[in-house]
Amino acid sequence: MSQSGLTAAAQLYDQARQSLAGGVTAGLRWHPYLSRPFYASRAQGPYLYDLEGERYLDFNMANGAVLLGHGHPAVNEAVQAGLAAGILTASETEHHVRLATTLCRVIPCAERVRFAVTGTEAAMVAVRLARHVTGRRKLLTFAGHFHGLAEPFLFRPADQTGSGLPIPVSGGVPDTYGQDVVIVPWNDPDAFDHALTRHRGELAAVICEPVHYNAGCIPPQPGFLAYLRRRTQEEGIVLIFDEVLSGFRMALGGAQAYYGVTPDLCTLAKAVANGLPMAVLCGRADLMEQLSPGGPVAHSGTYSGQLLSVLAARATLEALEAPGVYEELGRRAERFYGELQSIFDRAGVPARVQGLGARFGLYFGRREPVVTWAEAVACDQALHRRFVLGCLRRGLYFHAYAGLPGHAGFSLAHDDDCLDEALTVIENVARELARQREA
Ligand SMILES: Cc1ncc(COP(=O)(O)O)c(C=O)c1O
Repeated sequence: MSQSGLTAAAQLYDQARQSLAGGVTAGLRWHPYLSRPFYASRAQGPYLYDLEGERYLDFNMANGAVLLGHGHPAVNEAVQAGLAAGILTASETEHHVRLATTLCRVIPCAERVRFAVTGTEAAMVAVRLARHVTGRRKLLTFAGHFHGLAEPFLFRPADQTGSGLPIPVSGGVPDTYGQDVVIVPWNDPDAFDHALTRHRGELAAVICEPVHYNAGCIPPQPGFLAYLRRRTQEEGIVLIFDEVLSGFRMALGGAQAYYGVTPDLCTLAKAVANGLPMAVLCGRADLMEQLSPGGPVAHSGTYSGQLLSVLAARATLEALEAPGVYEELGRRAERFYGELQSIFDRAGVPARVQGLGARFGLYFGRREPVVTWAEAVACDQALHRRFVLGCLRRGLYFHAYAGLPGHAGFSLAHDDDCLDEALTVIENVARELARQREA
């Protein structure tokens, strides 16, 4: 604590607001429960360190971008090699080809790949490709699924049925763009089917998060992904899986490998390069070959396939391909989520834990399974706030997104000891929450 009584973080935030719009470099980096961003000074393995050097066991892991752990040695070494090569922005190298070859081997839908910088960009290009190959304009999305901040994705449904015109969720997005967007509830085959019938011959693409991690963690109901696959094929619609969060999270081939349902196109980002900025668009060769220069669909970019990210991705995939990685990840996940749920149950705190692979959702105020976005947003935010602040005070970092369910996660650097440490802390927080509820 400084002499003025303000922490270093509060002082820095005061200063930030004089130059950074809103005091942050990304809107969702503002932590609603701290009323400022969390300022990190460094990160290592499963830990984040604040400005005063205090250590936090990290359960955000860069919004899911870091799966091997912060500062993974093989990734650091790969980036060093890129620096030594002269960074080589806007140049193709052998590493691009090798990374593409690996992705085509491990991602079921990937017959061709294209590198991009952000998940938003990859999703935008996927939709553009789908519009070109189908000659149609409309896009079907699912309520609450997040595909980045490009215009087609900045809408919410006007009503539960998906029949009203979607409403923009950002300033600067013309209402009229909503005419090309159809939004239906996730895990509801009847609503999906109804929308397909209503917009027959108009839909270019259906895009979804195959596991709805942006709502915490809502897996598809059994058979739902296969149903999307079958119906889109019947209607000549391009099926896009946005695997920006689900990619590599529970299987090397992502949710499409885990559930055995292959989309036409898929987007990857985040975990693919363990924290370096990198996204991938991949899919069927006949679709992907429509991209420039071979086809008429525009995609290029100065930083597409930036060498440091490509090398980081190669190192990341090599680490993820090591024998036993996903068995171990699955074992830790199952134990951690099971014990978390028991802690809340024992303490008498109403909370539901849902996780798959290395990411999970915590839903306060309910014990029943969460299967829709509406259920996820209706959870008890005040209790979530008390939980997150209680954890922060005891050295566990959970991020939060204002008004949104948010998601949490661990990494392969979170070994059993780390997870035990977290469970002990959470047990104390849960008891505190239970006492507050009684008072
Ligand atoms: C599922 C999903 N798709 C797309 C995006 C957008 O990715 P980016 O932030 O790299 O633009 C995100 C970001 O969180 C995401 O979770």
